[in-house]
Amino acid sequence: MCGIVGYVGTSKSIEVLLGGLRRLEYRGYDSAGIAVIDENGDLQTRKRAGKLATLLGDLESNPLANGATGIGHTRWATHGGPTDGNAHPHLGDDGKLALIHNGIIENFSELKQELLSDGYVFDSETDTEVAAKLLGREYGRTKSLEQAFRNTVQRLEGAFTLLAVHRDEPGLVVGARRNSPLVIGLGDGENFLGSDVAAFVEFTRRAVAIGQDQMVAIRPDSVTVTDFLGAPVQADEFEVAWDASASEKGGWSSFMAKEITEGPDAVANTIRGRIVDGLVQLPDLDGIGDAALAGITRIVIVACGTASYSGILGKYAIESWSRVPVEVELAHEFRYREPVLDSTTLVISISQSGETMDTRMAVQYASEHGARVLSICNTQGATIPRESEAVIYTHAGPEVAVASTKAFLAQVAALYLFGLHLARVRGTLSDQVIAENCAELVAIPEKLTRVLESTDSIAQLAGWMADTRAVLFLGRHVGYPVALEGALKLKELAYIHAEGFAAGELKHGPIALIEPGQPVFVIVPSPIGQPELHKKVISNIKEIEARGARVLAIAEAGDAFVPPLADVVLPIPLAAPFFEPLLAVAPLQIFAMELATAKGLDVDQPRNLAKSVTVE
Ligand code: F6R
Repeated sequence: MCGIVGYVGTSKSIEVLLGGLRRLEYRGYDSAGIAVIDENGDLQTRKRAGKLATLLGDLESNPLANGATGIGHTRWATHGGPTDGNAHPHLGDDGKLALIHNGIIENFSELKQELLSDGYVFDSETDTEVAAKLLGREYGRTKSLEQAFRNTVQRLEGAFTLLAVHRDEPGLVVGARRNSPLVIGLGDGENFLGSDVAAFVEFTRRAVAIGQDQMVAIRPDSVTVTDFLGAPVQADEFEVAWDASASEKGGWSSFMAKEITEGPDAVANTIRGRIVDGLVQLPDLDGIGDAALAGITRIVIVACGTASYSGILGKYAIESWSRVPVEVELAHEFRYREPVLDSTTLVISISQSGETMDTRMAVQYASEHGARVLSICNTQGATIPRESEAVIYTHAGPEVAVASTKAFLAQVAALYLFGLHLARVRGTLSDQVIAENCAELVAIPEKLTRVLESTDSIAQLAGWMADTRAVLFLGRHVGYPVALEGALKLKELAYIHAEGFAAGELKHGPIALIEPGQPVFVIVPSPIGQPELHKKVISNIKEIEARGARVLAIAEAGDAFVPPLADVVLPIPLAAPFFEPLLAVAPLQIFAMELATAKGLDVDQPRNLAKSVTVE
C-alpha cells in the first residue's frame, strides 16, 4: 500500500525522493507527492492524483528548487478518493510543516472534531490531515519538531507510519511507526527512511528496521531511535541481501515476466546451504529447536491469498512426512473465531512482504495465546519475522509485480524444507527417504527452467482466449492449490471470472457450470507417481469433455492418456507428486500474464490491488 520515502543529506533530495517513489510504485497507489525544504529554506510541496508519471510531468513543466531535506509519498486511497487534494503531503495550519502517512488513524474523527472546535480548517477528506494539523498545533507549543511529533503520535490510534519535516528545522526528518512498516537506510553524510528497503537500496544497503511504537529522527550525520516516550532504543543494523539492479525491470516487458523467469533461482536460492549431505539444515530455526518440534501436537498455517495456497501444499507435505496434523487458515479469519491454541501448537505464518496486516494480527494473536510462532518470509527487516520466534527466510529476491509468482515457489520450497526437517526430528522418515525428497527439490530449478523455455503455446492460447469471460481450474491433492492459484492469477491480472475447484467436488455442484465451449484447466497428476489419482482425474476430464468443455490440461510429458481427451496439453517434466506443483504453476502464471497482456492491461499493477496490504 502507500509508499513512503524520506531523505536528508545533500541538495539532491528531489531525485532521491522520486527515485525512491519509483521503486515503491509496485506497492500499488493512486496518487503521489513530495515535500522539500529547498535551498532558500522554503517548504515546497507538489502532489498529483494518478501515476507517478503525472507528478513527474508536472515537476518537469514547473520545477521545484531542490534541497537537502524531503519526504515523498505514493497514496493508496482509504479516507477520501484519489484526488490532488487528498494526496500527501498534508500541511500544518501555518504551511510550515509537511506530513505523510501510511495506514489508518482510527480515532481521526474525535481528533478532527477537537481541531475543528479549535478553529482549524481542513482542505482534504483524509485522516492524515488531522495528524498534520495536530503536529502543527504541538509545534506551536513546543517549538521542537521531535517533541511535537512525539506528542502527536501519542494521541493517535490505529496503524500508521508517519514522516514529517518542518521549514524551521531543515536537515531533520522525523518518522514513527505503529502497525505499519518503516526502515532506515544508513548513508555517508546522508540518511534515508522508507516503507521498505527498495526506497533507498540504490544508495545504500545498510539498513535498520524500526520496531513497533518507535520514533526516529534522521539528520545527515546522525540517526536516533526512541520509543514514543523518548527513551532511546537499541536498533539492529542489517545488510540488504540484494542490490538495486534486482528490483529493476532490466529489459523485460514487465516485472511479472522477469519474476516468473526468476522462479528457478528463487527455489535454488531458498534451498541453497540448507541441504547438506542429503539432509535439511535449518539453523534459522534456533528459536524453535528440536525439543520444541518434537513436542508439538499440531500445526496451524496462517496466510492470505497466494501465500495461503503455498500453505495448502505445505499442509499436504508436512502431514504426510511428519504425521503432525496441519490446518491452513486464512489469516483474517483466524483470530476472530477464537481458535484453540496452546504451547504445543506451532503457528506458521507465510508472507512474502512480511507486512500483511491480516497475517501479522494472526501472528500476534497466536503469540498472545501461547502458541509457538514460526514465520516464512521473503523480506528482511519486515515486521512479521521480527514478531515471530523463528523465521525461515525465502530468498526469492525482491518481488515487484503485485501478483506473487516466484515468492510462491520459494514459500513452497521453504515449507518442504521445514517438513523434511520435522520428519527427521520426529523420526517419521528415514534419512534415505529424506535424501530422496531433497534430491527432488534440488532438481526443481533445472526442470522449471525447461518449462519456462517452452511457453510459446501458452502465449498463443492466451491470445486466442482474450475474449473469454470465465475460466475454471480443476486439480486434486497437490493439484488443488495449483488450481486455486491459477484462478487467482487470472482474476487479479486479467479481470476474468475464474474459479479453482478440487476436481472431486465437481459432481457436488460446479459441474452445472459446464456448458459447450467452457474453458477448463485441469492439473493432471502423474500416472507414474499417483496412478489412482490419475485415473480419477481422467474420469473428471471425461465428465466435462462429454458436456462440451474445452479442456486445457497441464500434464506430465509422455502421459498418453491426456492428449486424446484434451484440446490443449501443456507438458511438464516428471517429478515426484509433492514437487509437481512447483512445475505446474508456471504455465498458469504465464497464461494469466499473457491473457492480461492480450487485453492491454497493466500486469504489474492490476487495478485496485496493492502489493503489501498493510491495513486489515
Ligand atoms: C496474489 C497475491 C496476494 C498475496 C497476499 C499475501 O498474487 O500476491 O494474494 O499473496 O496478499 O501477501 P504476503 O505474502 O505479502 O503476505
